[in-house]
Amino acid sequence: MKLSGKIACITGASAGIGKACAESFATAGCNLILLARRLDRVEELGEILKSKYGIKYFVGQLDVSNREDVERFFKNLPKDFNEIDILVNNAGLGKGLGPLYENKIDDWEVMIDTNVKGLLYVSRAVIPGMVERDRGHIINIGSIAGRGTYPGGSVYTATKHAVNAITNSLRKDLTNTEIRVSTVDPGLTETEFSIVRFDGDKERAKKMYEGFQPLFAEDVAETILFVAARPPHVTISDIVIYPTAQSDFHLVNRKK
Ligand SMILES: NC(=O)c1ccc[n+]([C@@H]2O[C@H](COP(=O)([O-])OP(=O)(O)OC[C@H]3O[C@@H](n4cnc5c(N)ncnc54)[C@H](OP(=O)(O)O)[C@@H]3O)[C@@H](O)[C@H]2O)c1
Repeated sequence: MKLSGKIACITGASAGIGKACAESFATAGCNLILLARRLDRVEELGEILKSKYGIKYFVGQLDVSNREDVERFFKNLPKDFNEIDILVNNAGLGKGLGPLYENKIDDWEVMIDTNVKGLLYVSRAVIPGMVERDRGHIINIGSIAGRGTYPGGSVYTATKHAVNAITNSLRKDLTNTEIRVSTVDPGLTETEFSIVRFDGDKERAKKMYEGFQPLFAEDVAETILFVAARPPHVTISDIVIYPTAQSDFHLVNRKK
């Protein structure tokens, strides 16, 4: 499908997969809405992509877990950007990696509020316009954590199972429309994810990726672009993408 001139809205575009995804969509000629809490980062990214690819962009400082802010932001989009064609629900995070009976309840709240409620708030704000126009594509970024479980991952895996459930139910809600709903579920990808998960402990984060080649954010971004670029009569419902060295959460072929 020709993506040039389409409007793609990417949450969590300030780092990692969301940032790489912004560049992928820019290469395809999409105009971009780039959202994150770190406004300076999305502003800088927008400028770079505009000068490299000649696209238009609009940025917003948005915490997806703030329901009122999400509603206000999408109600007040400028005219050139208010018909969103592609929504990439990417903003998300893990917090902590310990047994349920020990980890911080505040971390649970952040993961549930961001990965589940945030994705829902943004979807609820954007999809009515897609329904009205009878066109659009929602691509949710899940995880292999949405397809299994691992020790220390009770709440993170629960949020990603929720993303899968939401994706599959939403596709059914939209059966009588031309709107497509997909999920892309990556395995270990080297981004800021582990630094955030371990509260800024870069040494511990680095260890997650030691001795093997994890996915690059760009690998996932290319896959997201592929999903979006299928012809309109094709919906890729889900894609799971692993680094070759990984075959399950903790089954990783580390060379040292
Ligand atoms: N890395 C992996 O191994 C991996 C594997 C499977 C799935 N994933 C999923 O991929 C997605 C992207 O993660 P990543 O690996 O790219 O991590 P990342 O480098 O830490 O990027 C996360 C992005 O989400 C944004 N974000 C976090 N909380 C937010 C909030 N409340 N409101 C708005 N934006 C928020 C961050 O921006 P600000 O901090 O500026 O707001 C950042 O741009 C997540 O949904 C994650 O669960 C990652």
